[in-house]
Amino acid sequence: MRTIAWAGLSALLSILAAIVAPASAEDGYDLWLRYRPIEAAAAADYRMVATQLAPGGASPPIAAATAELRRGLTGLLGTTPEVSETAGAGALIYGTPAGSPQIAALDLDLGDLGREGYMIRSLRIDDRPVTVIAANSDVGVLYGAFALLRLVQTRQPIDRLDLRARPKLALRVLNHWDDLDRHVERGYAGQSIWDWHRLPDYRPELYTDYARANASIGVNGVVLNNVNANALSLTAPYVAKAAALAEVFRPYGIRVYLSARFSAPVEIGGLTTADPLDPDVQAWWRAKADEIYAAIPDFGGFLVKANSEGQPGPQDYHRTHAEGANLLADAVAPHGGVVMWRAFVYSDQAPDDRAKQAYTDFVPLDGRFRPNVAVQVKNGPIDFQPREPFHPIFGAMPATPLMMEVQITKEYLGFSTHLAYLGPLYEEVLQSDTMRPGAGATVARVIDGSADGHALSGMAGVANIGADRNWSGSHFDQANWYVFGRMAWDPEAARARPIAEEWVRMTFSNDDRFVEPVVDMMMGSREAVVDYMTPLGLHHLMATGHHYGPAPWVSDLARPEWNPTYYHQADADGIGFDRTAAGSDAVAQYAPQVGDRFSDLDAVPEPLLLWFHHLPWDYRMRSGKTLWEELVLTYDRGVSAVGEMRRTWAGLQPYVDPQRFDDVTVFLAIQDKEARWWRDASLAYFASRSGRSLPEGTTEPEHPLTYYQGLSYPFAPGN
Ligand code: GCU
Repeated sequence: MRTIAWAGLSALLSILAAIVAPASAEDGYDLWLRYRPIEAAAAADYRMVATQLAPGGASPPIAAATAELRRGLTGLLGTTPEVSETAGAGALIYGTPAGSPQIAALDLDLGDLGREGYMIRSLRIDDRPVTVIAANSDVGVLYGAFALLRLVQTRQPIDRLDLRARPKLALRVLNHWDDLDRHVERGYAGQSIWDWHRLPDYRPELYTDYARANASIGVNGVVLNNVNANALSLTAPYVAKAAALAEVFRPYGIRVYLSARFSAPVEIGGLTTADPLDPDVQAWWRAKADEIYAAIPDFGGFLVKANSEGQPGPQDYHRTHAEGANLLADAVAPHGGVVMWRAFVYSDQAPDDRAKQAYTDFVPLDGRFRPNVAVQVKNGPIDFQPREPFHPIFGAMPATPLMMEVQITKEYLGFSTHLAYLGPLYEEVLQSDTMRPGAGATVARVIDGSADGHALSGMAGVANIGADRNWSGSHFDQANWYVFGRMAWDPEAARARPIAEEWVRMTFSNDDRFVEPVVDMMMGSREAVVDYMTPLGLHHLMATGHHYGPAPWVSDLARPEWNPTYYHQADADGIGFDRTAAGSDAVAQYAPQVGDRFSDLDAVPEPLLLWFHHLPWDYRMRSGKTLWEELVLTYDRGVSAVGEMRRTWAGLQPYVDPQRFDDVTVFLAIQDKEARWWRDASLAYFASRSGRSLPEGTTEPEHPLTYYQGLSYPFAPGN
């Protein structure tokens, strides 16, 4: 009886606690915009600088900036700054010269800030200390407000500021692979946050919070629907729903885009063809664009997946990707829209190495796209693997604006249960030098347009956001959303480590005893996944369809390049995909210095070894070990790294709220279990191919190979 009574009482208490203090629940909803009170001593100093808010005007972005500053400063400093038009000592004055006489009077040099940049300066006006956030647009001011809050959140001094920042990319875009039935392709955070059925009328606060989060990291575009598009999303009812979202996002500087199905003129337009050169088809797309722009005046444009994995496209009519892209580009051009045309293509007929096909299709079209087309290229030539070399297209289409597409969602890196911080993956690609003629053409400088003088530039991230309360399915996956935005702001200068640190401070704690170990853990986490899933350049070893778990043995799928055996080619003699001149010659798609380096066994980076080479099991690695021994060791290293992550996290309990501590603890345990599964299943299989036993002293797989081959997960998410 007593136990039951106590259980009842504690349940009641927790319900009461939830009602009394819902805002302080640490369920992850607040993301990096938590604004929890800072230490009393520091708060006093900050308060001197932010006692009063003096907004320049009342436009929606300025109102959003005011609301955010009030919310943030109140939370952080414990007092609500008053809003006043006249600025006293400690005032925060923000606006544009056009919207704020106070800013205009300062005669600041904003020339190099562009439309979205901002400056933050500590100044004295009439001998009173003030802080000024100035920009050329109200959205620039909003970005400045978030930047100022970030300084306080990460405990930077704000009394002598002289900061200038501007985004280096024009388009910083999330791609939602969300279907109209709320399923999210490769989504591991629940259903789609777009409640299509209840839109356009129902616009929960969630959508505003989504926009706030994106604006805080500089994301300025959102593709609402899956690249495997349903033509219905272009019909009037769905355009009205998209328009409702656009209205919510507009104050935050975010434009909406739609994925367009190339065959829409046939499917919803009543035409008999979608041929890009057909005048009726052209007229249909022009009318469709006019209709969309009437509902959404700042509509961003279209994203298109064409002639890829069964999607319709211009090649169905023997036209090129350029002709297809230009069709849509001409339709949106009068309205200032763009087309993001994906280069993720591989044919079901071409027998050539899949890694080569996008280049083969697209590079001959360089210079043939309209100026408002950006070709959107995945970071690597296969498909968002834990590690890939940079995509060769980045070094080969100087006359075409190229966007880079990365996955934020972790289709191939353990879904949302494995802790894998993707900052190092993004940085590795962005900093890769394409070695194109003309020095310094890193991928970052190709996509920011500076290598070739393109004004249209951008980066897209496949979103990891769903209806889960913590947005991303796990607390640490929020960091991947965050780092995407921060890197897209300035891909050349951005670095994974400081961004991780910033995120940890904002999301969890500023206590260095917490920050340092967590940042270290995050920085090593992606490499751990590479090690226990696809070490030494192996790739595409996961199970069919849902891609959950290891299945390097699969060899019976209809298309050769769907089979893991196609990628690793392991047999009794050796392992790896020969992409040198003796093999598929994919190396020839890179600039000669890069291709030579990848071809040369003494120069190729070992983490990419088996991507480019097929080698005997006894091949001597730089460590002196054989390839087989090194492979086993690397799998083991991945598994131990996860054990280390668990130990690190367990020691950090004093610095984390119980809810998030427990959530992360449980997921790390899942990761540990699955890392062992990857290691054991892969080694059991490769041992069977190589005919070798594991080196002495290593642990045998827990089960025989047939056990792993028998596992099946028909309902794994995201498929
Ligand atoms: C991957 C992914 C698909 C997706 C495709 C794409 O292959 O598994 O779900 O549609 O990429 O990027 O178009």
